Amino acid sequence: MKMKIAILTGGGDCPGLNGAIKWVTKSALDSRIAANRSVSFDVIGIVEGWRGITDVDPDDQKSCARYIKYLDEEVVRTWDRHGGTNLGTSRTNPFNPKNDRSARLIDNIKKLGIDAIVAIGGEDTLGVAYKLHQLGIKTVGIPKTIDLDLAGTEYSLGFDTAVNIITEEIDRLRTTAGSHSRIFVVETMGRNAGWLALRGGECSGAYIILIPEYPFDMDKVCELLRERKGREINYSIIVVAEGAKLSGRQEFLKDNHVDDFGHVSVGGIANYVAHEIEKRTGLESRHISLSHLQRGGTPSAHDRLMARWFGIAAVDMIVNGDFGRMVSLGQGEITTAPLEGIVNKLKLVDVEKYYDAERYNGRRTIF
Ligand code: F6P
Repeated sequence: MKMKIAILTGGGDCPGLNGAIKWVTKSALDSRIAANRSVSFDVIGIVEGWRGITDVDPDDQKSCARYIKYLDEEVVRTWDRHGGTNLGTSRTNPFNPKNDRSARLIDNIKKLGIDAIVAIGGEDTLGVAYKLHQLGIKTVGIPKTIDLDLAGTEYSLGFDTAVNIITEEIDRLRTTAGSHSRIFVVETMGRNAGWLALRGGECSGAYIILIPEYPFDMDKVCELLRERKGREINYSIIVVAEGAKLSGRQEFLKDNHVDDFGHVSVGGIANYVAHEIEKRTGLESRHISLSHLQRGGTPSAHDRLMARWFGIAAVDMIVNGDFGRMVSLGQGEITTAPLEGIVNKLKLVDVEKYYDAERYNGRRTIF
């Protein structure tokens, strides 16, 4: 039996996506393994995620050339070293009730002769894969989001690289903050979950870490900074997740934009915190948003390894007929989890377990 696998990436890009595409392709087409399989594969890449596979006109050659890439071992050979996604991505929701294009999407899947889809993405992209699965399309997911907020898995591609970038950038900020005796407020991504801020802050030794899961108080931030005065420390680093909130307030919105999945753009909180600190304490403060730098560049060693294992596991799942599920990391092992379990659920920081609400920082006890 021969099956055609289509791979796509959706949502925000991140390092590790190209590695996952490479390893789906390589393990699907591996001739030694193929000899022991009852099924063999062709692999295509869909350009720009769900938008590509919905917009493509299968009867038009030009459109197919624009949205479909034939993948083989030669094409993907070097991809695991590259950041971003060579297939392109989008935040398109074909099931958006305001513009439901799911009938066209399903029609295209049939016309293109696609037997199974490997969707690489976060909650939104994999949510679409789950809906398709419910409608009888064979789908498998690979978890990706630098925010690490996807339920059903301990790891999602991109997180480790992003934490490394945060750590490196804060190392850089320390020398200038120290030279000028300034406070630096560093905004990380993480609109719902504080994993990036917490782990990035812990790795870089930040003095204060503010996360969405624990609304903060500006008086308390200033009090913590004043506590430091008189000791031989002339500067402080504060890490704040873009989705962190002042107690009793909503998150800070960047603009009025709402995406296809109904998400608002958050951001701007570091600016507010730095301004308030200076106003209330007189301590000179600066702010910086690390923004998309956190998703840029080459993948860390850990993301390359996870991309490889996740890609290989996705093909094993197709061979085993394990559809409607995603690859997952559970108790440190590669396993699978139902896509149903990620819908309308997020993996947030367990404040009791990991956050010190007195210090606004990571806990100093483990057990
Ligand atoms: O993928 C999620 C995320 O990393 C969020 O933390 C952030 O709000 C969002 O991406 C921003 O991405 P973009 O600017 O590409 O929409």
